[in-house]
Amino acid sequence: MAITNTPKKYFCISVPFKNEIEEEDLIAKFLNFSPLGFKSFEKTLWIYFPYEEDIKEKVFNLLKQEGIKFSFEFFFHQNWNENWKKFFKITKICEGLYVLPPWKKTKRPGLKIYINPALAFGTGTHESTQIAMKLIYKYLLPNQTFLDVGTGSGILSILAKKIGAQVVACDIDESIKENFYENLILNGLKKEDIKLFIGSAKDIEEKFDFVVCNIELQHMFPILKYLVKRTKKYLILSGLLKGELSKVFNEIEKYSKFKILEKISKNNWEGCILEIQK
Ligand SMILES: C[S@@+](CC[C@H](N)C(=O)[O-])C[C@H]1O[C@@H](n2cnc3c(N)ncnc32)[C@H](O)[C@@H]1O
Repeated sequence: MAITNTPKKYFCISVPFKNEIEEEDLIAKFLNFSPLGFKSFEKTLWIYFPYEEDIKEKVFNLLKQEGIKFSFEFFFHQNWNENWKKFFKITKICEGLYVLPPWKKTKRPGLKIYINPALAFGTGTHESTQIAMKLIYKYLLPNQTFLDVGTGSGILSILAKKIGAQVVACDIDESIKENFYENLILNGLKKEDIKLFIGSAKDIEEKFDFVVCNIELQHMFPILKYLVKRTKKYLILSGLLKGELSKVFNEIEKYSKFKILEKISKNNWEGCILEIQK
């Protein structure tokens, strides 16, 4: 969500969360109370509201009802937009690859992907996104065709485009569009540089040199067959928790032979790149 006009007084609650699902649940719970914006950093979510008694009461009632532990802060408006920006840092994905908010600058040489973290659909610093980015950066070549299934903020597609690939992106959630196109523009790309469609791997016929999917297991599992169908050569899978890769491999075996080129794990998350052998 973009941060909108700031009133003179506002308050903020901060709530710890364990994973993306919990984070999304929290955001959904508070959306009804007209928050000004969200900020998420190192497994804590900050939610900002205008300081109005009835909003405060509703927010506090909900926190109490649901037994949510939280901290509370009250502010007067003082360059608020600038203050919250300080929390977002440059993320080094690997040597030569960085994700940064558009107001940060770095002289470090390499590929820089600009993502606006004040918007929904991820800041690009989640472990599963980092795993997918590392593998794309290492294996993708210019001019290869690339399909990004579950594109969200568009971060993986933007990386692929900057490497020089011909990119198609898709997502089942139509509301990603605004964020997706804004991130393209932030990266000096034009809307038409990446073809976006609302749907999934089963909704196209084309095959791609590279297919990438960073989606949690329960959503990825039913589309594995189509991910394999769409892949000419390389399939990158991320968004999986430790121990889940074997389930995925067992399912893929039903549709194709494959070779595991590399597996990467970070904290609790795992991803891999497979060479599909048809
Ligand atoms: C974890 S986010 C990944 C966003 C981004 N690709 C990244 O790497 O940070 C997963 C995205 O997949 C989308 N999604 C979930 N199930 C899907 C499906 N079956 N087909 C296409 N997109 C899907 C969601 O709407 C969401 O935007």
